[in-house]
Amino acid sequence: MSTREQKRILVTGAAGQIGTELVLALRERFPAGDVVAMYRSSPLSPEVAAGGPSAVGDVTDVNAYAQVVAEHNIDTVYHLAAILSVGGEQNPTLCYDVNLNGLRNVLEVAREREQRLFCPSSIAVFGPDTPAVAPQDAPLHPTTMYGVTKVAGEILCDYYFQRYGVDARGLRYPGLISWQAPPGGGTTDYAIAIFHGALQDGSYECFVGPETRLPMMYMQDALAGTLDLMNAPLKALKHHADFNIGAMSFSAQELADAIAARVTGFECRYAPDARQAIADSWPDAVDDSAARDEWGWSPRFGLDEMVDDMLENLRHGLGKE
Ligand code: NAD
Ligand code: SER
Repeated sequence: MSTREQKRILVTGAAGQIGTELVLALRERFPAGDVVAMYRSSPLSPEVAAGGPSAVGDVTDVNAYAQVVAEHNIDTVYHLAAILSVGGEQNPTLCYDVNLNGLRNVLEVAREREQRLFCPSSIAVFGPDTPAVAPQDAPLHPTTMYGVTKVAGEILCDYYFQRYGVDARGLRYPGLISWQAPPGGGTTDYAIAIFHGALQDGSYECFVGPETRLPMMYMQDALAGTLDLMNAPLKALKHHADFNIGAMSFSAQELADAIAARVTGFECRYAPDARQAIADSWPDAVDDSAARDEWGWSPRFGLDEMVDDMLENLRHGLGKE
C-alpha cells in the first residue's frame, strides 16, 4: 500500500482487544506519527500510548469525533469502537447507540472528508436459521442486539458506498483469540480465558458446553486480513463491508483437549450460562470463498498452531519459560 493513498490514520476503539494490536501493526507499516490511537475511557496499552499520537473521543458525539479527525487531518479510519455481544445483551440501548449511531457519525465524517473506512462486522450477523457452514450471502436473522447492529452496520456501509462513494470495507470476524489485550465482553471470550485458567490454575470452568462449535481465528490472521482487505484494489471487490472470513472451527472440548495435550494436568469443567444461547445462535464455520476470490484471503493459523503460539506467549508473560 502506498503512503500516498493513506497518509493519516485513525483507529477508534484503540484500547480494545483488536485496536491494541492493530495500532501497532499499522505503525509498523506506516510512519508511527501518522497513526492516531483514539480511546474513550479504557486506557491505551503502554506500548500504544508511548509509540505515537493518541486522542480521547466518543464516537456517539459527532462534533467531538469530527474535531479529533480534523485536528489530525485523518484520511483513513479503522473504526473498532463498539459494544460486543455480551455487553450488548446487558445494555441493548447502549449497544445500539455506540454501534449504529456511532457508525453513522463515522460514516458522515467519512463522506464529508472523503475518507476510506474499515468497519468490522461479525459472525453475530447470523442467526439460528443459518446453515452450519454460513454461506457468504445468507439470510441474516440475528437474535442479539449486537448482531442486529452488525447487520444494519454492513448495510449502512454499503449504502454510503453506493450513494456517496465512501470506500467502506469490512470483515465478519470470527471469535478472535489473542494474548496481548483482554477481550471486551464477547461470547467467544471463553476461548481466551481457558488459556489463562490452564496456566494460572490448571483448570477452567467454561461458560459454554463441550460440544459448542464456533468459527474462530488467531489475531495475527485477523490483522493480516484487515490490512490485506484495505490494500485490495476497489475494482476487484464485489462485496465491501460484509466479507465472511474463516480460519478454524473447533468445539470447546477440542480446544480443551488441545490445551491438555500441552499443559500437564489441565482440566476443563463446563457450566453453561446465558451465553450458551448466543453461541448456539451462531454457525459452526463460514464459507469464505468470496474473500479468497476477491482479495486473496488465506489464513495461516489452525488450532494446533494457535494453541502453541498462545501458550508460548502467555507462558513468557507469566515468567513460566
Ligand atoms: P473491545 O471491546 O475490546 O474494544 C472496543 C473498544 O471500544 C473499547 O476499548 C471501548 O472502550 C471502546 N468504546 C466503546 N464505546 C465507545 C464510544 N462510544 N466511543 C469510543 N470508543 C468506545 O472490542 P474488540 O474485540 O477490539 O472489537 C473491535 C471491533 O471488532 C468491534 O466492532 C467488534 O464488534 C468487532 N469484532 C470483534 C471480534 C472479537 O472476537 N474480538 C469478533 C467479531 C467482530
Ligand atoms: N467475539 C465476538 C463476540 O463474541 C463476536 O463478534 O461478541
